Amino acid sequence: MLGQSSQLAQEELKAVLSSKKDQIELLSPDFVLANTDQISSDLINNLGGTIKIAKYIQSIDNLDTLDANFWYNILEKNLKSDNKNHFGFSLYNDSNKNYQTLTKKALGLKKLLKEKKFKSRLVTSQESILSSVIVSKNKLIGNELLIIKHENKYILALTEAVQDFVAYGFRDMKRPHRDDKSGMLPPKVAQMMVNLAGNNKDKNILDPFCGSGTVLQEAALIGYENIYGSDISPKAVKETKENLKWLNENFDIKIKSKILESDIQNINKNINKNFIDLIVTEPFMGDARLIARQNKISDINKIKDELQELYRLAFAKFKKILSPDAIIVFIFPIFDVSGQDIYTLDKKIISQLGFEYKLEQDIIYNRPGQKVKRQITVWQNKK
Ligand SMILES: C[S@@+](CC[C@H](N)C(=O)[O-])C[C@H]1O[C@@H](n2cnc3c(N)ncnc32)[C@H](O)[C@@H]1O
Repeated sequence: MLGQSSQLAQEELKAVLSSKKDQIELLSPDFVLANTDQISSDLINNLGGTIKIAKYIQSIDNLDTLDANFWYNILEKNLKSDNKNHFGFSLYNDSNKNYQTLTKKALGLKKLLKEKKFKSRLVTSQESILSSVIVSKNKLIGNELLIIKHENKYILALTEAVQDFVAYGFRDMKRPHRDDKSGMLPPKVAQMMVNLAGNNKDKNILDPFCGSGTVLQEAALIGYENIYGSDISPKAVKETKENLKWLNENFDIKIKSKILESDIQNINKNINKNFIDLIVTEPFMGDARLIARQNKISDINKIKDELQELYRLAFAKFKKILSPDAIIVFIFPIFDVSGQDIYTLDKKIISQLGFEYKLEQDIIYNRPGQKVKRQITVWQNKK
């Protein structure tokens, strides 16, 4: 089950489960059925966009099939005789009426469990879906039944892992430096972007607009060991170094990192030809306060022209340090002027510099109320 930015989450999943064994099928914008032998509790930590992983059990034609005995058989192997068994369910893509019906069935199961001498507690919430937070706080892993309406059938699955919201909060809030002013990139989005770049952790990864190092932190946690960053600002360089040091001290990882002070103009003077295999970056996206004050398209267009020139320059310089077939994941901002979207990406400009656009569908990431949306793009260096 995918989180809020499901388009980005889908692309991330495709990139992470890219081996032939791992086949994936999109059931709805929020659900993916994947055939993989990866362990759910490991996989969930590597995916920024997936919020629940459940093991497929079977499909049923209607909810009548799901009586107390049927449900009991599904849970049986996870039941404990010495402890209270918490259980619950989430109903997706279906009516409130059917949710009420299922609640009655769940109470029937509770009765059956009592008859069989199991102590139990049915966990419910205001909504028909139990959030990852409720699942994890109420210890429902292995005992939450997902019931997903799909093409006149119901898919049944048992939750095996949920996203670790505490871990994301920890690495977002507890690191020494975070830059609230420039609308920092959420760690989850940074993680998804690194995942879009592929699976080979031996490669040299660079963020040439590293800011406080969010992308590089996530790359390190995913398993990249050769990490490079640069930024025009000495303060950003210092903060990235300190954040990576904190990461080394607080997580079980070993990173070799090199963080340089460099204007993007000079990046090829500081890094050798052919050296970088992946670039993942959120570049400078304009002065946020200035952008917030603009209400005229002509004023935003001026900012757009300046940024397009910076991005053109950046890609031209990338060409000089990238290995053949290298991948670039790059954010282009989109500005909202009175409801009209002004794009900074011009695919023609980037293609003409010798890069191939790799996405089948464009990915836009935004949160309600934000004036700047992020267009997340993936490119391959053409030899
Ligand atoms: C949007 S921030 C990156 C934030 C980063 N993703 C994070 O979460 O910490 C953009 C960064 O680009 C840097 N920058 C601006 N112009 C630059 C240039 N010409 N060359 C290199 N870095 C530049 C700024 O100093 C800033 O740290």
